[in-house]
Amino acid sequence: MKIGFFDSGIGGLTVLHRAFGALPNEEFLYYADEDNVPYGEKSRAEIMELSDRAAEFLIEKGAKIIVIACNTATSAAVASLRERYSVPFIGMEPAVKPAIENADGKRVLVTATPLTIREEKLRNLIGKYDKYGIVDLLPLPRLVGFAERLEFESDAVRAYLAERLGQFDAAQYGQIVLGCTHFNYFKDLFRDILPPHAKVIDGVNGTIKRLISVMGEKDMFEQGGESRVDYYVSGRDANDGESLKRFEKLHRRLELMETI
Ligand code: DGL
Repeated sequence: MKIGFFDSGIGGLTVLHRAFGALPNEEFLYYADEDNVPYGEKSRAEIMELSDRAAEFLIEKGAKIIVIACNTATSAAVASLRERYSVPFIGMEPAVKPAIENADGKRVLVTATPLTIREEKLRNLIGKYDKYGIVDLLPLPRLVGFAERLEFESDAVRAYLAERLGQFDAAQYGQIVLGCTHFNYFKDLFRDILPPHAKVIDGVNGTIKRLISVMGEKDMFEQGGESRVDYYVSGRDANDGESLKRFEKLHRRLELMETI
């Protein structure tokens, strides 16, 4: 079964990475819209158009189900994509519910892109679960650019994150939500800057769980197939040696982040 994934860039690899482990017999198509990254600072209409292009491309390549491995594209475009295409779409959302449930009397900080933060989808999610007003929001747009430049450990990225997180009294926070798939590349940095009691969580497992459940309902599992992945950058084939080397490097980085 061909499962399509798309993101504005390399962020969605964090979802693909965990999907490999959970679905060992499937074929994956990954569309990184690197010509148009970042989505988080674009308008809703622009992201709808770009997401539409990505979905159409993946369907043409044979995807039978599509994971929107991007919180920003999900916020802006999941509803219109579901209206337009008959394949199922699995969206992503910041892990607000588990963060509130496990806050342990402390506050929750949701980090995301500016678009995710201003969209109604996140407002509704918070409205539904945040009964006591414990959630605060922090846009971290520059982390996306740092990730795309594979700049994971520089003084500049550390200083940026420390400065942004430093606007909050970390002692008050029990849960920090990574509400953008690009942010997972910096889990070590979040861990380093935040006090040990503040847990860093993401919404990836919720998305994989939903993907497996929809595939089960629709009887979509491949029996005994061989796992493979084809990469595309904004619609161009990216399976040459150089590109694959870069994607492998990113998977290795994510492997490391999984141990944190
Ligand atoms: N990776 C995306 C997300 O999960 C968006 C990054 C961007 O392009 O701004 O929100």
